[in-house]
Amino acid sequence: MMNSRSLLKHISTQAAIVGAGPAGLVLALLLQKEGIDCVVVERQSRAYVESRARAGLIEHQIVELLRKHGFSEGMDLNGVPHTTCEFRHGGRRYMIPYGDHVHASHFVYPQQFIVQDLLQLFISRGGIVFFSHPAVKIEGLESDRAVITCTSSENSVLKVECDFIAGCDGFQGLCRSSIPSTDTKIFSKQYGIGWLAILAEVPSSTKKLVYALHKSGFAGQMPRTSQITRYYLECPPNDQLSNWSDDRIWSELGKRLAVDGDENLIQGPIVEKRVLNMRSVVMEPMQYKRLFLAGDAAHIITPVGAKGMNLAISDADVLANALIHYFRSGDEVLLREYSHVCLPRVWKTQEFSDWMIRLIHSNADSDQNKDKDFSDRLRQVRLERLQQTDTYAKLFAESYVGLKQ
Ligand code: APR
Repeated sequence: MMNSRSLLKHISTQAAIVGAGPAGLVLALLLQKEGIDCVVVERQSRAYVESRARAGLIEHQIVELLRKHGFSEGMDLNGVPHTTCEFRHGGRRYMIPYGDHVHASHFVYPQQFIVQDLLQLFISRGGIVFFSHPAVKIEGLESDRAVITCTSSENSVLKVECDFIAGCDGFQGLCRSSIPSTDTKIFSKQYGIGWLAILAEVPSSTKKLVYALHKSGFAGQMPRTSQITRYYLECPPNDQLSNWSDDRIWSELGKRLAVDGDENLIQGPIVEKRVLNMRSVVMEPMQYKRLFLAGDAAHIITPVGAKGMNLAISDADVLANALIHYFRSGDEVLLREYSHVCLPRVWKTQEFSDWMIRLIHSNADSDQNKDKDFSDRLRQVRLERLQQTDTYAKLFAESYVGLKQ
């Protein structure tokens, strides 16, 4: 790695954050706000990080958190509150005014806009982000000071020495794999279901989030902005994109989203399509010595309940409190408790996601090829209960909108 020509840069800080996604940036801003010295190292360029379209549904408690800390200007200006979602089954609509049951709402505001806002805020307040500096080695987790080594495209090497490392580098990142497997337990679940994730430059045909439970498979319509819509189509896991021409996508969406008194599905340019496999993973504990994992680095969840980004930001909030408490008082109690505080919320959210998966897919889990009509009847009953039973609807609403879990 190091050769005679490599330029070595060495910096020292209190907290080194690996990854400039929602988890890393919210953590960086919360520490910066309290005068805790921190730097962020990010593998990708700023342009790449700011244009990566992924999630876009913000839970009630996260909306409140972003507002409390003054990170919500863009969301409040351009985001759209949502309090009703729609299920479709057997040609019927099931409107669920979940906001009325819990007096709370989601906000729809694309993740890339949140990342742009958080980056702008952090850097404009003097924050340091080393873009295009992938972390390649972590050392000293058992010692007094840990060290992250990063390389860069300019053939330079950056060494960041710190008291603590926050691993916010996602599921494929370096940090999670830096924890000895003897010190962790991995819980994982594969659902044997794929989703074709589509981004189209069209207004959505309805302002609501739509979950269509169709015999040919699930279809989802998620507005992102007034001109961009995220669609999902259930497909076999690891399906080939070559199987999905734009024409086939629009015809399948038209068929699966169809309901009585249909509204026109507006067709237009499809700007992104990729296949996601429905799986969930949780790592326990979410910390090892001087390394603390937040977000996808510690747990991934299917996109079904749109929980991934919200869990990532919740972790960042808990970790920030623990680090601020330590640097103020020298007391490590909240750092020691970090996993114990995060994991119950992570598992409750996984449970909700699992429930949603069974509701919207006829062949979730092991009951494939069993009596699909039987599970179809069960889904119909669940939708009717969601519409007709306040307690059932309230339970759904609390988890879906993300009230304090
Ligand atoms: N060095 C530096 N940066 C890295 C490295 C590395 N070795 N590996 C990955 N990264 C960066 C990625 O480029 C990415 O920008 O870490 C960042 C991780 O960000 P996210 O994947 O957005 O992870 P997180 O902040 O946990 O948010 C995850 O957001 O999109 C939703 O559904 C998604 O649940 C997910 C949530």
